Amino acid sequence: MYQAPRGTTDILPAERKYWDYIQRRAADICRLYGYGRLDTPTFEETGLFARSVGEGSDIVTKEMYTFDDRGGNSVTLRPEGTASVCRAYLERGMVNQPKPVRLYYFASVFRYERPQAGRLREHHQFGCEAIGDASPMLDAEVIALAWQFFGGLGLSALTLHLNSIGCQECRPAFVAELKAYYQTREAELCDDCKVRLVKNPLRLLDCKNKACREIAAAAPKNADHLCPACAGHFQNLRRCLDLLAIPYVIDHCLVRGLDYYNRTVFEIQPEAEGAQSTVGGGGRYDDLIAELGGPPTPAIGFATGLERLVINLKYEAVAVPDPPPPIVFVAAAEDEAADAAMVLSAELRRQGISLRAAPGRSLKAQLKQADGSGARYTVIIGAEDLAGGTVRLRDMTTGEQRTVSRDELLGRLQ
Ligand code: HAM
Repeated sequence: MYQAPRGTTDILPAERKYWDYIQRRAADICRLYGYGRLDTPTFEETGLFARSVGEGSDIVTKEMYTFDDRGGNSVTLRPEGTASVCRAYLERGMVNQPKPVRLYYFASVFRYERPQAGRLREHHQFGCEAIGDASPMLDAEVIALAWQFFGGLGLSALTLHLNSIGCQECRPAFVAELKAYYQTREAELCDDCKVRLVKNPLRLLDCKNKACREIAAAAPKNADHLCPACAGHFQNLRRCLDLLAIPYVIDHCLVRGLDYYNRTVFEIQPEAEGAQSTVGGGGRYDDLIAELGGPPTPAIGFATGLERLVINLKYEAVAVPDPPPPIVFVAAAEDEAADAAMVLSAELRRQGISLRAAPGRSLKAQLKQADGSGARYTVIIGAEDLAGGTVRLRDMTTGEQRTVSRDELLGRLQ
C-alpha cells in the first residue's frame, strides 16, 4: 500500500476544526490591522530563494526541493513565504501603493528536514509582511499583531524573544569579535559548530547542543555592538513595546536561520518542552527588496507554522469550537420509502437545511447514525406516509415524536 511521503501528513476532517479556527482568527486579525491577502505560486524560479534566503543558509544548501521542469528551468517548491511576497510586490506594481503595503498569506512550505513531531517536510504557514517603512513603530505593530493573534487563539504559555542583529555597517565588526571569542573555545565546540565557525559564525549562537549553549551564553552580545542608528532603532522598538505592554525577553542568542534579516529579529516560543520549539518568528529585512532588483525598501514581517499552533492549542487544552451538527437526519423506515426519503432530503438541502442520511442501511442502523450525528431532529418516512404526504418528526433532545405534514416540517426546520 502507498504511504504519504516521509515528513508529510494528511489533515483529517476531525482535525479541521483546529485549522479553521486558526485561519479564521488569522483573517480576522489581518482585517483589524489592514492586511490584504496575497496568494503566490507554490513554486518559483530557484534563484529567487537562493538569493533571498541566502546561498550559505541551511535551507538553501540542504533543504530545498529543487528540480528542473520539462522546459529545463530550475524551479523550487517554496521553502518560505517572504521571498515570494517581495517578488510579487515588485512584479505586480505594489511599489506604487501607499506605504507600508501590508500583505498576509497562507502557504504550504517545503523543507527537506529530518522529520519529527512539529517538524515536517511540508508544513503550512500564516505570515504577514509590512513593506516600505523603516520606523520601529512598524516593528512594534507587526509584533503586536503577532502577539494579539497568539493571545486571541487562547495560547498563554508563550514568550516573545527579541534581539537586534544590526546592519551591514555594524555586523561585520561584531561577527569578527564573535569569531575571535569562539576561536578561543574551538576545542569545546560540537562538530557542526566547528563548520559554522568558518562558514556562518552568527549561527554559532543558536546551536542547541548543551555545551555549545553554555559557550554561547558567555559570547559577545550583538545588541552591545550596534552602530548608533541600529542602537537607536532597537531602543525605540523596546520603548514602543513597553508602551503597548507587550512583554518580551532580550535573547542575545536569537539570530534566525534565514540570511535576509537585519536589525530586529524575534521569535515566539512555548514555555514548555514538548509543545515543540518556536511557533512563530520574523524580523526586518531592509535590504532584501533592493537585493531582488527593486528600489531600496525597508520591510518587516513574521510567520507562524499552523501545525505547531495545533500542537500548542492541544497542549494548552484550548477549547476549539466544533463544526455545527446537522439540523436533521432523514431515515427511511422501509425500502418502499427510500425514494421518498431521497427526494425529501434533496428538497430540504435545497432549502439550506444541513442534513445527514444513510440510504440503504437498515432502519436500526439509520437510527443509530442519527443518534451519533448530533442532529437536532430525525425525520422518519415510512410506506404509510407516502400517500398522505406526512412524515414523523422526532425531536432528538426531548425524544418526542409527532406526525406532521411536509409543509409543517419545512416550517419547523427552517
Ligand atoms: P521560519 O522561522 O523559518 O521563518 O518559519 C516560520 C515558522 O514556520 C516557524 O516559527 C515554525 O512555526 C514554522 N516552521 C518552520 N519550519 C517548519 C517545519 N519544518 N515544520 C513545521 N513548521 C515549521 C520564515 O519562514 C520567515 N519567512 C518568516 C518571516 C516572514 N520573516 C519575515 N517575514
